Amino acid sequence: MNVSTDESAAASFLGRNQFLIYRLFSLSGLVPVGGFLAVHLLTNASILGGAESFQGRVDLIHSLGALLVPVEIALIFLPILFHATVGFMIIAGGLPNVGSYPYAGNIRYTLQRATGMIAFAFIVWHLIHLHWLGAPVRGNALPGFDPHHASSTLAVAMGSMVMNLLYAIGMLSAVYHFANGLWSLGITWGLWTSPAAMRRANWVSVVVGAVLAAAGLGSLIGVRRVDVEAARAMEGRREEMRRMLEGEVPLPSARMMETAVEPRAVESPRTGT
Ligand code: HEM
Repeated sequence: MNVSTDESAAASFLGRNQFLIYRLFSLSGLVPVGGFLAVHLLTNASILGGAESFQGRVDLIHSLGALLVPVEIALIFLPILFHATVGFMIIAGGLPNVGSYPYAGNIRYTLQRATGMIAFAFIVWHLIHLHWLGAPVRGNALPGFDPHHASSTLAVAMGSMVMNLLYAIGMLSAVYHFANGLWSLGITWGLWTSPAAMRRANWVSVVVGAVLAAAGLGSLIGVRRVDVEAARAMEGRREEMRRMLEGEVPLPSARMMETAVEPRAVESPRTGT
């Protein structure tokens, strides 16, 4: 089979399944990708409540243990990859835009596409910068994120103004894309059809966008307020506690027992003979 036959087979597959692909693309923008975006931004905003409150949220996520990686792959990475691939195809004209914009030339239509591309570049950067997946790429060139020392490592990683600016642009783009996408998704699925219903839905999008934008920008402010030394000390105490509870190091009571038992252990050979 030559290249042009491959291409025409792919084109006819897309043509035949265009409706289904577009519906799956639209749905994936809401769940799980949009849902994850909202939970992620609200979790990050917990740093406004202090370093320990943020560490508590991170510990909760990591309590999934060995399940965390498969869950991340199945519910976050693959759906984003699917949504982004179809999104780029729509932008490139490979999948006819059967989307929802009544006036194709309008600014929201253009912004939806532009913010999708910015969000994609930002997500790739964010993974390289802070996620374990990006560790081989960033090497020692950038300080990364350690989930057991969440606030202190995040504060160090987010230390520069350039980084804050980059995150603000990336997060606001993702939030605009999601909030505006909520409105267009309702049109895709026929949830709001009259101009009055569209206007009401528009307000819902604005409120969702404002809450998530505040959460995203709030987390940047919260990270800047972290006292790195105090956060390290608190994380060290929690880490010690975690290791004790997981049996990696003995509990203080076990240690006391050991020291209490030691002299008798020395005595026993004497008494035994
Ligand atoms: C932050 C993660 C993302 C979320 C939460 C998200 C969410 C959404 C939602 C809810 C929609 C509306 C679907 C509809 O109108 O039926 C949408 C549309 C769209 N998304 Fe995303 N998306 C994300 C990332 C991306 C990425 C990385 C791209 C890649 C370029 C992209 C490209 C698009 C495009 C082109 C549209 C409009 C399609 C059209 O013209 O109808 N999105 N997105």
